[in-house]
Amino acid sequence: MKRLDGKTAIVTGAASGIGRAIAIRFAAEGAKVLVADIIAEPKEGGDPTEKVIADAGGTAFRMHCDISKWDDVDAMVERVVTEWGSLDIIVNNAAHWTTTRLVDTSNDQWREVMSVNCDGYFYCCKRAVQQMLKQPVKGDARGRIVNITSQHGMIGAPNDIAYGTGKATNVYITRQIATDYGREHIICNAVAPGRIITGKPGVSMDPKGLEAAKFRTPYPRLGRAEDIANAALFLASDECSFISGENLMVDGGWSAS
Ligand SMILES: NC(=O)c1ccc[n+]([C@@H]2O[C@H](COP(=O)([O-])OP(=O)(O)OC[C@H]3O[C@@H](n4cnc5c(N)ncnc54)[C@H](O)[C@@H]3O)[C@@H](O)[C@H]2O)c1
Repeated sequence: MKRLDGKTAIVTGAASGIGRAIAIRFAAEGAKVLVADIIAEPKEGGDPTEKVIADAGGTAFRMHCDISKWDDVDAMVERVVTEWGSLDIIVNNAAHWTTTRLVDTSNDQWREVMSVNCDGYFYCCKRAVQQMLKQPVKGDARGRIVNITSQHGMIGAPNDIAYGTGKATNVYITRQIATDYGREHIICNAVAPGRIITGKPGVSMDPKGLEAAKFRTPYPRLGRAEDIANAALFLASDECSFISGENLMVDGGWSAS
C-alpha cells in the first residue's frame, strides 16, 4: 500500500522546481496528479513533469492554469472532479518573484506579485474548499491543503517587499482555513522552504547568494526540491492527523539559529 493510494491531487506550478518534485513524489506514492502551470517545459530542463510521471507508471496530466485568474482555477478543480471524482489534496506552490525594496517597487510590480502569491493562493484555497465541503470524510479528512510558503515573510529578508508580504499572507491563510474549516474535517498546513537548489538558471544560482545561504544554514548542505516534497507528502497523507494550521520550516535549521 502506497501512502497516497486512491487520492487525487492538484499541484500548482508543477512544471518546474519544487512543484515538479512534489508532483513526481505524490504520483510515485499512488496519487493521480494534475500538473497545473502556465508553462509546459521545466525551467531547469528535462522532460515535462507529466511525462516523467507516466514513464514511471503513474497517472498525471497537465493543464494550463494561471492561478491569478479565478476562471482558470475554477476550470482546474472542475476538471479533476470530472476526471477522477474528487479533489483530495491541493498543493499551492506556484509563485512569482521580485527583488526590490519598498520605494523601488512600482505599483504594477506589486500588483503582479500579489496577483499570483496572494490572490492566486486565495482563489486556489477557496475553490478547493468549495469542492472538499461536498465530499465525504475519508479517514481523518474531507480534503487536505498544503501551502508552500517561505522563510521570507517569516523574517524580513533584504529587498523583498512584495514577495515577502505575499508569503506572509500564505502563512496566515493557512491558519485561517485551519481555524474556519477544521470542524468540517479540512486539514490545512504549510511548508516553508529554506534555500532550495532547483537547478533553475539565473539569480537563484548566483555564487555569492549561494555562499551566503550556505554560511547562514547550520546543516552542511542547502536544500533539495525532494526535501520539500517529503514534507509536503507527510502533510498530504493520512499520517498527518490532528495537525492543522502549521507552517513547517524545512530549512536545515536556518530559522532555528
Ligand atoms: N527555491 C527556493 O529556494 C524557495 C525558497 C523558499 C520558498 N520557495 C517557494 O517554493 C515554491 C516553488 O519555488 P521554485 O523555486 O520551485 O520556483 P520555480 O520558479 O522553479 O517554479 C515555479 C513554477 O510556478 C509556475 N508559475 C508561476 N506563476 C504561475 C501562475 N500564475 N500560475 C501557475 N503557475 C505559475 C512557473 O511557471 C514555474 O513552473 C514557491 O512558492 C516559492 O515561493 C522556494
